[in-house]
Amino acid sequence: MEAIRIVGTGSYVPDTVLTNRELEKTLDTTDEWIVQRTGIRERRIAEPNEAVSDLAEKASAKALEAAGMSPEDIDLIILATITPDTCCPAGANWLQAKLGAKNAVSFDVTAACTGFIFGLSIAEQYLKNGQYDNALVVGAEVLSRTLDWNDRSSCILWGDAAGAAVLKKSEKGAELLSTHIHSDGSAGDKLLLPGGGSATTPISQESVEKGLHRLKMIDANKTFKVAVKQFAESCEEAAAFNGYSISDVDLIIPHQANARILNAFAQRLKVSIEKVFINIDKYGNSSAATVPLALDQAVRSGRIQPGDKIVLTAFGGGLTWGSALVRWH
Ligand code: UT7
Repeated sequence: MEAIRIVGTGSYVPDTVLTNRELEKTLDTTDEWIVQRTGIRERRIAEPNEAVSDLAEKASAKALEAAGMSPEDIDLIILATITPDTCCPAGANWLQAKLGAKNAVSFDVTAACTGFIFGLSIAEQYLKNGQYDNALVVGAEVLSRTLDWNDRSSCILWGDAAGAAVLKKSEKGAELLSTHIHSDGSAGDKLLLPGGGSATTPISQESVEKGLHRLKMIDANKTFKVAVKQFAESCEEAAAFNGYSISDVDLIIPHQANARILNAFAQRLKVSIEKVFINIDKYGNSSAATVPLALDQAVRSGRIQPGDKIVLTAFGGGLTWGSALVRWH
Protein backbone atom coordinates (compact mmCIF):
# COMPACT_ATOMS: atom_id res chain seq x y z
CA MET A 1 0.00 0.00 0.00
CA GLU A 2 1.25 3.49 -0.82
CA ALA A 3 2.20 5.48 2.28
CA ILE A 4 0.32 8.57 3.39
CA ARG A 5 2.59 11.53 2.86
CA ILE A 6 2.72 15.27 3.37
CA VAL A 7 3.42 16.51 -0.16
CA GLY A 8 3.14 20.28 0.38
CA THR A 9 2.94 22.85 3.16
CA GLY A 10 2.01 26.54 3.23
CA SER A 11 1.33 29.32 5.71
CA TYR A 12 0.15 32.88 5.95
CA VAL A 13 0.23 35.57 8.63
CA PRO A 14 -1.50 38.97 8.40
CA ASP A 15 0.75 41.99 7.78
CA THR A 16 -0.17 43.96 10.91
CA VAL A 17 2.33 43.43 13.77
CA LEU A 18 1.23 44.21 17.34
CA THR A 19 4.25 44.51 19.63
CA ASN A 20 4.39 44.27 23.43
CA ARG A 21 5.47 47.92 23.47
CA GLU A 22 2.21 48.88 21.77
CA LEU A 23 0.22 46.83 24.30
CA GLU A 24 2.00 48.74 27.10
CA LYS A 25 0.16 51.87 25.93
CA THR A 26 -3.32 50.50 26.69
CA LEU A 27 -2.73 47.75 29.29
CA ASP A 28 -1.18 47.54 32.76
CA THR A 29 1.66 45.36 31.45
CA THR A 30 5.27 45.56 30.29
CA ASP A 31 7.32 44.13 27.46
CA GLU A 32 9.62 42.66 30.13
CA TRP A 33 6.78 40.79 31.91
CA ILE A 34 5.39 39.37 28.67
CA VAL A 35 8.79 38.26 27.36
CA GLN A 36 9.85 36.70 30.68
CA ARG A 37 6.56 34.91 31.41
CA THR A 38 5.66 33.83 27.83
CA GLY A 39 8.53 34.42 25.36
CA ILE A 40 6.20 36.49 23.16
CA ARG A 41 7.51 39.77 21.67
CA GLU A 42 4.90 40.42 18.99
CA ARG A 43 1.89 38.85 17.28
CA ARG A 44 -0.04 39.34 14.02
CA ILE A 45 -3.53 40.83 13.81
CA ALA A 46 -5.93 40.23 10.90
CA GLU A 47 -7.41 43.16 8.99
CA PRO A 48 -11.09 43.91 9.74
CA ASN A 49 -12.07 42.39 6.38
CA GLU A 50 -9.96 39.22 6.83
CA ALA A 51 -11.87 36.17 8.11
CA VAL A 52 -10.42 32.77 8.93
CA SER A 53 -11.21 31.46 5.43
CA ASP A 54 -9.18 34.32 3.91
CA LEU A 55 -6.08 33.44 5.96
CA ALA A 56 -6.69 29.74 5.30
CA GLU A 57 -7.08 30.33 1.54
CA LYS A 58 -3.66 32.01 1.30
CA ALA A 59 -1.93 29.27 3.31
CA SER A 60 -3.74 26.55 1.30
CA ALA A 61 -2.80 28.07 -2.06
CA LYS A 62 0.88 27.90 -1.06
CA ALA A 63 0.53 24.30 0.15
CA LEU A 64 -1.20 23.29 -3.10
CA GLU A 65 1.50 25.02 -5.15
CA ALA A 66 4.20 23.16 -3.18
CA ALA A 67 2.32 19.91 -3.81
CA GLY A 68 1.96 20.66 -7.54
CA MET A 69 -1.81 20.27 -7.26
CA SER A 70 -4.79 22.40 -8.20
CA PRO A 71 -7.85 23.05 -5.97
CA GLU A 72 -10.01 20.77 -8.18
CA ASP A 73 -7.69 17.86 -7.31
CA ILE A 74 -8.59 18.01 -3.60
CA ASP A 75 -10.95 15.32 -2.22
CA LEU A 76 -11.25 16.43 1.40
CA ILE A 77 -10.78 19.75 3.25
CA ILE A 78 -10.51 19.77 7.04
CA LEU A 79 -10.27 23.18 8.70
CA ALA A 80 -9.21 23.20 12.35
CA THR A 81 -10.38 26.39 13.99
CA ILE A 82 -12.24 27.83 16.97
CA THR A 83 -12.87 31.09 15.12
CA PRO A 84 -14.71 30.09 11.91
CA ASP A 85 -16.10 32.86 9.67
CA THR A 86 -19.62 31.86 10.80
CA CYS A 87 -21.15 29.34 13.23
CA CYS A 88 -23.01 27.93 10.23
CA PRO A 89 -21.85 27.01 7.69
CA ALA A 90 -18.44 25.66 8.62
CA GLY A 91 -15.40 27.83 7.91
CA ALA A 92 -14.17 24.96 5.72
CA ASN A 93 -17.10 25.52 3.35
CA TRP A 94 -16.17 29.19 2.83
CA LEU A 95 -12.61 28.00 2.24
CA GLN A 96 -13.76 25.38 -0.28
CA ALA A 97 -15.69 28.05 -2.21
CA LYS A 98 -12.84 30.58 -2.13
CA LEU A 99 -10.32 27.99 -3.34
CA GLY A 100 -12.72 26.66 -6.00
CA ALA A 101 -12.11 23.17 -4.63
CA LYS A 102 -15.44 22.01 -6.04
CA ASN A 103 -14.71 18.28 -5.81
CA ALA A 104 -13.84 18.36 -2.10
CA VAL A 105 -16.06 17.62 0.86
CA SER A 106 -15.31 20.11 3.62
CA PHE A 107 -15.87 20.40 7.36
CA ASP A 108 -14.42 22.00 10.49
CA VAL A 109 -12.86 20.33 13.49
CA THR A 110 -13.07 22.03 16.89
CA ALA A 111 -10.16 20.92 19.05
CA ALA A 112 -8.64 24.31 19.91
CA CYS A 113 -4.84 24.32 19.87
CA THR A 114 -4.68 20.58 19.02
CA GLY A 115 -7.01 21.06 16.03
CA PHE A 116 -4.39 20.58 13.33
CA ILE A 117 -3.24 17.26 14.85
CA PHE A 118 -6.90 16.16 15.07
CA GLY A 119 -7.28 17.15 11.40
CA LEU A 120 -4.21 15.13 10.40
CA SER A 121 -5.54 12.14 12.30
CA ILE A 122 -8.99 12.31 10.62
CA ALA A 123 -7.41 12.71 7.18
CA GLU A 124 -5.10 9.76 7.91
CA GLN A 125 -8.12 7.50 8.56
CA TYR A 126 -9.92 8.51 5.33
CA LEU A 127 -6.78 8.01 3.27
CA LYS A 128 -6.00 4.69 4.96
CA ASN A 129 -9.48 3.28 4.39
CA GLY A 130 -9.31 4.30 0.74
CA GLN A 131 -12.34 6.60 0.62
CA TYR A 132 -10.20 9.55 -0.46
CA ASP A 133 -6.83 9.84 -2.18
CA ASN A 134 -5.83 13.21 -0.74
CA ALA A 135 -6.72 15.83 1.85
CA LEU A 136 -6.01 19.47 2.59
CA VAL A 137 -5.63 19.95 6.36
CA VAL A 138 -5.60 23.54 7.57
CA GLY A 139 -5.24 25.23 10.97
CA ALA A 140 -6.35 28.87 10.98
CA GLU A 141 -7.49 31.38 13.58
CA VAL A 142 -8.56 35.00 13.87
CA LEU A 143 -8.43 35.03 17.66
CA SER A 144 -8.04 38.81 17.82
CA ARG A 145 -11.83 39.12 17.28
CA THR A 146 -12.58 37.09 20.41
CA LEU A 147 -10.24 38.76 22.91
CA ASP A 148 -11.01 41.01 25.84
CA TRP A 149 -8.35 43.63 25.19
CA ASN A 150 -8.65 44.79 28.82
CA ASP A 151 -7.74 41.34 30.20
CA ARG A 152 -3.95 41.49 30.51
CA SER A 153 -3.69 37.88 31.67
CA SER A 154 -5.06 36.61 28.34
CA CYS A 155 -5.03 39.12 25.46
CA ILE A 156 -1.24 39.34 25.39
CA LEU A 157 -0.96 35.66 24.46
CA TRP A 158 -2.84 35.29 21.21
CA GLY A 159 -2.28 36.02 17.52
CA ASP A 160 -3.84 35.41 14.09
CA ALA A 161 -2.33 33.01 11.52
CA ALA A 162 -2.92 30.06 9.18
CA GLY A 163 -0.99 26.99 8.07
CA ALA A 164 -1.85 24.12 5.73
CA ALA A 165 -0.61 20.73 4.60
CA VAL A 166 -1.61 18.55 1.65
CA LEU A 167 -1.70 14.81 2.40
CA LYS A 168 -1.68 12.25 -0.36
CA LYS A 169 -1.18 8.54 -0.90
CA SER A 170 2.06 8.70 -2.78
CA GLU A 171 5.51 7.20 -3.26
CA LYS A 172 7.21 10.57 -2.71
CA GLY A 173 6.87 12.99 0.20
CA ALA A 174 7.19 13.08 3.96
CA GLU A 175 5.68 9.90 5.41
CA LEU A 176 3.03 10.33 8.09
CA LEU A 177 3.92 7.37 10.32
CA SER A 178 1.33 7.84 13.07
CA THR A 179 -1.13 10.13 14.83
CA HIS A 180 -2.46 9.94 18.40
CA ILE A 181 -5.18 12.22 19.79
CA HIS A 182 -6.75 12.58 23.26
CA SER A 183 -9.51 14.52 25.05
CA ASP A 184 -10.53 15.36 28.62
CA GLY A 185 -13.94 17.04 28.51
CA SER A 186 -14.12 17.26 32.31
CA ALA A 187 -11.61 20.12 32.13
CA GLY A 188 -13.44 21.85 29.28
CA ASP A 189 -13.99 25.01 31.31
CA LYS A 190 -10.28 25.86 31.38
CA LEU A 191 -10.31 27.52 27.96
CA LEU A 192 -13.77 28.71 27.10
CA LEU A 193 -15.60 30.74 24.48
CA PRO A 194 -19.18 30.29 25.76
CA GLY A 195 -21.24 32.98 24.01
CA GLY A 196 -23.34 31.90 21.04
CA GLY A 197 -23.43 28.28 22.21
CA SER A 198 -26.72 26.61 23.18
CA ALA A 199 -25.80 26.70 26.88
CA THR A 200 -25.86 30.50 26.87
CA THR A 201 -28.39 31.47 24.21
CA PRO A 202 -30.16 33.66 23.44
CA ILE A 203 -27.39 36.13 22.70
CA SER A 204 -28.37 39.19 24.68
CA GLN A 205 -27.16 42.52 25.95
CA GLU A 206 -26.43 40.64 29.19
CA SER A 207 -24.28 37.96 27.52
CA VAL A 208 -22.30 40.70 25.78
CA GLU A 209 -21.88 42.71 29.00
CA LYS A 210 -20.78 39.58 30.90
CA GLY A 211 -18.05 39.06 28.29
CA LEU A 212 -19.38 35.63 27.30
CA HIS A 213 -18.32 36.19 23.71
CA ARG A 214 -14.69 36.59 24.74
CA LEU A 215 -12.05 33.86 25.03
CA LYS A 216 -11.39 33.07 28.68
CA MET A 217 -8.70 31.09 30.44
CA ILE A 218 -9.38 29.77 33.94
CA ASP A 219 -6.58 28.52 36.22
CA ALA A 220 -4.00 29.12 33.47
CA ASN A 221 -1.09 28.38 35.79
CA LYS A 222 -2.56 24.97 36.69
CA THR A 223 -3.12 24.29 32.98
CA PHE A 224 0.55 25.17 32.44
CA LYS A 225 1.60 22.13 34.50
CA VAL A 226 -0.85 19.81 32.71
CA ALA A 227 0.45 21.11 29.38
CA VAL A 228 4.08 20.28 30.23
CA LYS A 229 3.07 16.72 31.18
CA GLN A 230 0.85 16.13 28.14
CA PHE A 231 3.37 17.58 25.67
CA ALA A 232 6.07 15.28 27.03
CA GLU A 233 3.83 12.19 27.13
CA SER A 234 2.54 12.87 23.60
CA CYS A 235 6.09 12.98 22.24
CA GLU A 236 6.93 9.75 24.05
CA GLU A 237 3.76 8.09 22.75
CA ALA A 238 4.59 9.01 19.13
CA ALA A 239 8.18 7.79 19.40
CA ALA A 240 7.35 4.55 21.24
CA PHE A 241 4.53 3.63 18.83
CA ASN A 242 7.05 3.68 15.98
CA GLY A 243 9.74 1.81 17.89
CA TYR A 244 11.88 4.89 18.45
CA SER A 245 13.16 6.56 21.57
CA ILE A 246 12.99 10.32 22.06
CA SER A 247 16.70 10.58 21.24
CA ASP A 248 15.92 9.27 17.72
CA VAL A 249 13.68 12.28 17.04
CA ASP A 250 15.45 15.04 15.09
CA LEU A 251 12.99 17.89 15.60
CA ILE A 252 9.92 18.52 17.74
CA ILE A 253 7.44 21.01 16.31
CA PRO A 254 5.10 21.86 19.20
CA HIS A 255 2.08 24.09 19.61
CA GLN A 256 3.37 27.49 20.72
CA ALA A 257 1.51 28.24 23.98
CA ASN A 258 4.31 29.61 26.14
CA ALA A 259 8.11 29.46 25.73
CA ARG A 260 8.40 28.37 29.37
CA ILE A 261 6.16 25.35 28.65
CA LEU A 262 8.42 24.41 25.73
CA ASN A 263 11.56 24.67 27.86
CA ALA A 264 9.96 22.70 30.70
CA PHE A 265 8.80 19.80 28.53
CA ALA A 266 12.16 19.66 26.71
CA GLN A 267 13.85 19.34 30.12
CA ARG A 268 11.37 16.68 31.18
CA LEU A 269 12.13 14.70 28.01
CA LYS A 270 15.86 15.38 28.42
CA VAL A 271 16.08 16.74 24.86
CA SER A 272 18.11 19.79 23.91
CA ILE A 273 15.97 22.91 23.38
CA GLU A 274 17.80 23.15 20.01
CA LYS A 275 15.63 20.23 18.90
CA VAL A 276 12.41 22.17 19.64
CA PHE A 277 11.12 24.55 16.97
CA ILE A 278 10.15 27.88 18.58
CA ASN A 279 8.62 30.90 16.83
CA ILE A 280 6.32 32.12 19.63
CA ASP A 281 8.41 35.31 19.96
CA LYS A 282 7.12 36.53 16.58
CA TYR A 283 3.58 35.13 16.40
CA GLY A 284 2.29 34.39 19.90
CA ASN A 285 -0.27 31.63 20.35
CA SER A 286 -2.45 31.24 17.23
CA SER A 287 -4.16 28.09 18.57
CA ALA A 288 -4.81 25.58 15.72
CA ALA A 289 -2.51 27.54 13.38
CA THR A 290 0.73 27.29 15.38
CA VAL A 291 1.76 23.76 14.38
CA PRO A 292 1.18 24.04 10.59
CA LEU A 293 2.71 27.56 10.58
CA ALA A 294 5.82 26.27 12.37
CA LEU A 295 5.97 23.17 10.14
CA ASP A 296 5.87 25.27 6.99
CA GLN A 297 8.53 27.64 8.32
CA ALA A 298 10.74 24.69 9.30
CA VAL A 299 10.35 23.19 5.81
CA ARG A 300 10.97 26.42 3.89
CA SER A 301 13.91 27.55 6.05
CA GLY A 302 15.77 24.26 5.55
CA ARG A 303 15.51 23.38 9.25
CA ILE A 304 14.18 19.96 8.24
CA GLN A 305 16.62 17.69 6.43
CA PRO A 306 15.92 14.55 4.38
CA GLY A 307 15.43 11.53 6.64
CA ASP A 308 14.61 13.63 9.72
CA LYS A 309 12.08 12.20 12.13
CA ILE A 310 9.74 15.00 13.22
CA VAL A 311 7.21 14.93 16.05
CA LEU A 312 4.33 17.40 15.78
CA THR A 313 2.63 17.85 19.15
CA ALA A 314 -0.05 20.05 20.66
CA PHE A 315 -2.07 20.64 23.81
CA GLY A 316 -5.02 22.96 24.26
CA GLY A 317 -8.58 23.76 25.22
CA GLY A 318 -11.06 20.94 25.44
CA LEU A 319 -8.82 19.73 26.95
CA THR A 320 -7.18 18.12 23.93
CA TRP A 321 -3.69 16.87 23.17
CA GLY A 322 -1.90 14.70 20.65
CA SER A 323 1.02 14.07 18.34
CA ALA A 324 2.03 12.96 14.87
CA LEU A 325 5.29 11.42 13.73
CA VAL A 326 6.54 12.24 10.23
CA ARG A 327 9.68 10.93 8.51
CA TRP A 328 10.89 13.58 6.10
CA HIS A 329 11.94 12.68 2.57
O1 UT7 B 1 -2.70 27.17 24.13
C1 UT7 B 1 -3.55 26.62 25.08
C2 UT7 B 1 -2.83 26.22 26.28
N1 UT7 B 1 -2.47 27.37 27.03
C3 UT7 B 1 -1.86 27.23 28.17
O2 UT7 B 1 -1.59 26.12 28.54
C4 UT7 B 1 -1.53 28.46 28.96
C5 UT7 B 1 -0.75 28.06 30.15
N2 UT7 B 1 -0.51 29.14 31.08
C6 UT7 B 1 0.39 30.15 30.86
O3 UT7 B 1 1.01 30.23 29.81
C7 UT7 B 1 0.66 31.11 31.98
O4 UT7 B 1 -0.02 30.65 33.13
C8 UT7 B 1 0.26 32.59 31.70
C9 UT7 B 1 1.24 33.18 30.68
C10 UT7 B 1 -1.15 32.66 31.15
C11 UT7 B 1 0.38 33.41 32.96
O5 UT7 B 1 1.69 33.32 33.50
P1 UT7 B 1 1.91 32.98 35.05
O6 UT7 B 1 3.35 32.98 35.28
O7 UT7 B 1 1.16 31.70 35.34
O8 UT7 B 1 1.27 34.22 35.77
P2 UT7 B 1 0.08 34.27 36.83
O9 UT7 B 1 -1.23 34.10 36.11
O10 UT7 B 1 0.37 33.36 37.97
O11 UT7 B 1 0.20 35.76 37.32
C12 UT7 B 1 1.34 36.22 38.06
C13 UT7 B 1 1.18 37.70 38.30
C14 UT7 B 1 -0.19 38.11 38.84
O12 UT7 B 1 0.00 39.19 39.74
P3 UT7 B 1 -0.02 38.92 41.33
O13 UT7 B 1 -1.36 38.33 41.63
O14 UT7 B 1 1.11 37.98 41.59
O15 UT7 B 1 0.19 40.29 41.88
C15 UT7 B 1 -0.92 38.62 37.62
O16 UT7 B 1 -1.92 39.57 37.93
O17 UT7 B 1 1.33 38.41 37.06
C16 UT7 B 1 0.21 39.27 36.86
N3 UT7 B 1 -0.03 39.38 35.43
C17 UT7 B 1 0.56 40.31 34.65
N4 UT7 B 1 1.43 41.30 34.94
C18 UT7 B 1 1.84 42.07 33.92
C19 UT7 B 1 -0.81 38.59 34.65
N5 UT7 B 1 -0.76 39.01 33.38
C20 UT7 B 1 0.09 40.07 33.36
C21 UT7 B 1 0.56 40.91 32.33
N6 UT7 B 1 1.43 41.90 32.67
N7 UT7 B 1 0.19 40.77 31.04
